[in-house]
Amino acid sequence: MLKYAMIGGGPGAFVGGVHRRALALNGTAKLVAGCFSRDLEKTRAIGLELGLDEDRLYATPEEMTRLEAGDIDFAVVVTSNEAHYPNVKTCLEYGIHVMCDKPFTITSAQAEELVALASEKELILAVTYTYAGYPMVRQAREMIERGDLGDIRFVNCEYPQGWLAEMLETTGHTQASWRADPERGGATLSLGDVGSHVEHLVPFVTGLNLTRLAARLDTLVEGRTLDDNGVILTEYDTSARGMYWYSQAATGCVNGLKLRIFGDKGGLEWFQEDPDHLRYTPIGHPPQIIVRGMPEMLPGAIPYSHTPPGHPEGWLQAFANIYSAFCATIEHGVTPDFPTGEDGLRGVRFIEACVESSRNGTTWIDLA
Ligand SMILES: NC(=O)c1ccc[n+]([C@@H]2O[C@H](COP(=O)([O-])OP(=O)(O)OC[C@H]3O[C@@H](n4cnc5c(N)ncnc54)[C@H](O)[C@@H]3O)[C@@H](O)[C@H]2O)c1
Repeated sequence: MLKYAMIGGGPGAFVGGVHRRALALNGTAKLVAGCFSRDLEKTRAIGLELGLDEDRLYATPEEMTRLEAGDIDFAVVVTSNEAHYPNVKTCLEYGIHVMCDKPFTITSAQAEELVALASEKELILAVTYTYAGYPMVRQAREMIERGDLGDIRFVNCEYPQGWLAEMLETTGHTQASWRADPERGGATLSLGDVGSHVEHLVPFVTGLNLTRLAARLDTLVEGRTLDDNGVILTEYDTSARGMYWYSQAATGCVNGLKLRIFGDKGGLEWFQEDPDHLRYTPIGHPPQIIVRGMPEMLPGAIPYSHTPPGHPEGWLQAFANIYSAFCATIEHGVTPDFPTGEDGLRGVRFIEACVESSRNGTTWIDLA
């Protein structure tokens, strides 16, 4: 079994526990060390609860990586965004493979540095763009690859949430507070938080490369300084066009990630809140619903499906699927089939391009 350490994911944290449960679900890696918080007492509290040895609970990530390098196979970075860059860098400098959550870094210069460092040290650097781990997302990708949709004409991806439809960040809400603080969350609030998933999902599924965009980032909730809603027009390296919408001020929406792809032979729709179903419409025919676990599943999607059809799978299994591929690469050196540091870098460049476009009155920006 592989051994890993975690940075972030302390008491009350949102996503660190999900990473731990996903890794436990796979049974391929064991948590052995942690710096779960900037506060050592909090790290001790949760570390002991998780059954870790007291002498493997650390006051700082630097101390942990220095003393654990050689004893762990990888580290997981699940801190607030501003702490990704320094902690991933420290791990890489000590020769440790890293899984980091998104958005990868605050600036693209930081992301470039980390990608170069990982490459120089021949280390595996991955980013948890979770939706790449869903079986029906893999199914959609493979159907497009084999030509079921023909040439893609238009992509529409939206990711509305409603949990920031009120000024939660002034109420002491931990996750809202740092996300709304440019020093800790980055130059955008909701674009980095949920728009980043849209940016990754579209090319992952369609194979299209984004070449140009025009963005309008809005702040819908009075009193907020950063964006909580945005619309982005997109162009790709083919004649395909697209439109993205993300929001965290979409009152009543929970986690409404939806992807619709329209080709000259057929269309596909996938909705994250109904993740086991993919709606496929060949041109001139009625829609078909492809159900996870049923015989229509394609070879690349089958390993991502674990329970019989009609027994829903979702977010936790998607994290676990990404970790399966990541751990397989560490153990057996197989070709990475998970979102990498390069994907994370492209995501940060996308955020910067959207900010520039929006500040300049929604002008078109060419992506290098
Ligand atoms: N992939 C996904 O679907 C997904 C979902 C939610 C959050 N996220 C990302 O995960 C990250 C964490 O988000 P969250 O909502 O869990 O945040 P959170 O505030 O709930 O948790 C962050 C944790 O990191 C700890 N921390 C911060 N700085 C630290 C440091 N220097 N050293 C050690 N610990 C430190 C905090 O004490 C806290 O326990 C963010 O980057 C967020 O964008 C990704």
